[in-house]
Amino acid sequence: MTTRKLQQVIRSLPTSDGAGVKLRRSLGQAPGLRLDPFLMLDEFSSENADDYIAGFPEHPHRGFETVTYMLDGHMLHQDHLGNRGDLRSGGAQWMTAGRGIIHSEIPQQQSGRMRGFQLWINLPAREKMKPAAYRDVQPEEIPLVTIAGGGAVRVIAGALAAAGDSQEGVRGPIQGISTEPLFVDVRLPAGARFAQPLPAGHNAFVYPYEGQLGVGAGDQIRALAAHEAGVLSGGERVEVRAEDGAAAFLLLAARPLREPVVQYGPFVMNSRDEIEQAILDYQHGRLL
Ligand code: CO
Repeated sequence: MTTRKLQQVIRSLPTSDGAGVKLRRSLGQAPGLRLDPFLMLDEFSSENADDYIAGFPEHPHRGFETVTYMLDGHMLHQDHLGNRGDLRSGGAQWMTAGRGIIHSEIPQQQSGRMRGFQLWINLPAREKMKPAAYRDVQPEEIPLVTIAGGGAVRVIAGALAAAGDSQEGVRGPIQGISTEPLFVDVRLPAGARFAQPLPAGHNAFVYPYEGQLGVGAGDQIRALAAHEAGVLSGGERVEVRAEDGAAAFLLLAARPLREPVVQYGPFVMNSRDEIEQAILDYQHGRLL
């Protein structure tokens, strides 16, 4: 089995979005810095309410999925379908924009730490215009798997393979997405190791949000610092170590679409014509 190597590092850049929410953007900071089907990864983390309190007021999306995963804090989601979701620490929200959704995400706390991620995953051309859908995942629905040798994994989407025997893997609450995403949050104590088989044809990256990682195996191990997206080479498995002190990271993998990507802000389609249509539809109240 080939162990995936660290192939490319995408450093996150400080930016702001919504009503001035300060965040770090790694994937998606430029059109060339995506990893099919992953379009964007934002990490927001602040102790200062001024950095996040105005949140993300009402805005549209078309053509892809947004996944919000909260580490700390409390956010309220509302959309045109009438969904009202309370996103708590450790919870997730999986939203399929499809042909169109208009939503807002507003922090519900006046103080304390707000920390989490928003990931954008592309939809295949044939699903870009499907009806919008929304799923709230409560923290207690996300399985926690302990790693032999120390550490734990929360499985949000896809399945974690069983370690070294014929036991069934552990499935996360999000299943049935056509790009077959794996989305796990891994915490390792100092010196611990995490290894996981991955489908050879799937693109994958790791994103440490605390501590530093060693990515790869044997003499191919390369260091990856916190707040950097580490894009992995092809291969059948991933291996990651907590190098100096404890570490926490996201591992994301999915089947690439290999379709043209044309993005204009919150609309991601396959052609300029489809983008112009999305803008017109939004302006004339026909997005949904
Ligand atoms: Co949004």
